[in-house]
Amino acid sequence: MTAPTKTALITGASSGIGKALASEFAKDGYHLVLAARGVAKMQTLADELQQRHKVTVTVIGADLETNDGAQKLHADIKARNITISALANNAGYGNFGEFKDSALAPELAMMQLNMNTVVVLTKLFLPDLIATRGKLLNTASTAAFQPGPYMAVYYATKAFVLSFSEAIAAELAPHGVTVTALCPGPTASGFQDKADMHASALVKGKKLPTSEEVAAKGYRALQRGQRVYIPGCMNWLLAQSVRFSPRNVVTALVQHMSKPAVA
Ligand SMILES: NC(=O)c1ccc[n+]([C@@H]2O[C@H](COP(=O)([O-])OP(=O)(O)OC[C@H]3O[C@@H](n4cnc5c(N)ncnc54)[C@H](OP(=O)(O)O)[C@@H]3O)[C@@H](O)[C@H]2O)c1
Repeated sequence: MTAPTKTALITGASSGIGKALASEFAKDGYHLVLAARGVAKMQTLADELQQRHKVTVTVIGADLETNDGAQKLHADIKARNITISALANNAGYGNFGEFKDSALAPELAMMQLNMNTVVVLTKLFLPDLIATRGKLLNTASTAAFQPGPYMAVYYATKAFVLSFSEAIAAELAPHGVTVTALCPGPTASGFQDKADMHASALVKGKKLPTSEEVAAKGYRALQRGQRVYIPGCMNWLLAQSVRFSPRNVVTALVQHMSKPAVA
């Protein structure tokens, strides 16, 4: 008897951590559905993974910061008769700068992508995940553990993702579905360009882990069914330390660590 086929849907698979996660799933024999706006980049990745790992890779162009982007993606996948046994809600980005100066529309679009899309895709694919006793990975961030001056809305979106993930992990355990919140610290990817944060002391002059390193560790945590995974000892220590520190001290510390570095 042949083993049942497994298919993973990865959002934000055109670059960075999502692209590297796609490789991890493919190595493990998952067929893939890749979703993001960058279709050409995902097609190049799909060709490479299909050839190297003999899996089927479906590429779907999707803008997931629109109101109905997540619903359209679900409808598209169902129209192709694909059952999803692993969902990686990974697409996301941040905006760097003082909240008083930032435009509202990009903040709302980021909230749509980082939070609403995660909830909608999780809700719509849950029947598949329950039927297959599948796995859910939500890319949160170490930003989830404390407030983040200069990236106030982004940090808040990741706190949402972490809280949501841990809560449904408890609800879904009896149904055989595991939920993992992957919480990377600063990681080399397209993130810094998109967030326009190269001046931030968080990343300026720092040697960051690669997306491949973070995805490989995150993938292993997903396979273990670990609920919250923070790659990197220092990231883990920092995330734990905020539990025992007064919140205003933590906020001031993050403000100091994040502020635009003087050139
Ligand atoms: N890098 C870090 O320092 C870091 C740290 C902690 C957490 N994270 C989180 O890790 C996740 C992946 O980010 P990354 O670091 O890999 O950054 P990245 O290289 O910029 O990748 C972001 C991915 O999200 C996709 N995306 C952005 N807007 C989208 C939209 N409107 N619709 C569909 N897809 C969209 C992008 O694809 P298209 O542009 O092609 O649509 C891209 O594939 C994010 O959730 C991020 O918040 C990153």
